[in-house]
Amino acid sequence: MPAILAIYASPRGAASHSGQAGRMVVERLLRREPDTRLLVRHLGVEPPPHIDAAYAAAMETPEAQRTAADRQALARSEELIAELEATDRLVIATPMHNFTVPSSLKAWIDHVARAHRSIALTPRGKQGMLADRPTYVLVSAGGVVSGEGPRQPDFVTPYLRHVLAVVGIRDVQFHLLEALVRGPDAVQAAERRARAWLDEQLPEE
Ligand SMILES: Cc1cc2nc3c(=O)[nH]c(=O)nc-3n(C[C@H](O)[C@H](O)[C@H](O)COP(=O)(O)O)c2cc1C
Repeated sequence: MPAILAIYASPRGAASHSGQAGRMVVERLLRREPDTRLLVRHLGVEPPPHIDAAYAAAMETPEAQRTAADRQALARSEELIAELEATDRLVIATPMHNFTVPSSLKAWIDHVARAHRSIALTPRGKQGMLADRPTYVLVSAGGVVSGEGPRQPDFVTPYLRHVLAVVGIRDVQFHLLEALVRGPDAVQAAERRARAWLDEQLPEE
């Protein structure tokens, strides 16, 4: 059975612009393939803990030499990586916070992008160990970050593209909802553009 992992990184719950766009993608995927399992992580509301010294040490300890405490330190990482391995579609909905991803999403990435488990360190560099899968990333920003002469840099898109590729996820489509602080008309226009993008990516069947 196909399965979707939906990651919501806004702390704003139902009011979240990125969350609404992410749910639109998830609903479209479910309409196209109704027999799909859906797994949801509300990172913005229930953030994973930051990684700690025990995690950093356990990560570098070869598997055969890990103690029970090492395994415990990696338990959350194992759980989150297993969720990715059990799903074959990924939807990430995230706001831009201070030009990059919110810290809750970064904490999730620090558990999921792990040397020797999801990233192989080879003489040719880092190689992803997870299966590629269609991935949709919805980014919402209060200001303008794309097009000609944006007023600020976008470290969300290039960062997510890179870190997802490093774990093996390269089939990634991004859509940016921007200028959302400009009021309801700007929000409606961004939502219309997001729907048009979705119709192109995943046409109604
Ligand atoms: C802590 C914080 C930092 C933010 N930093 C930026 C930023 O760097 N650039 C920007 O355009 N908007 C920024 N915003 C605005 C949000 O990106 C914008 O309101 C977005 O629509 C929120 O998405 P959400 O509704 O999914 O939470 C910031 C908002 C917060 C709360």
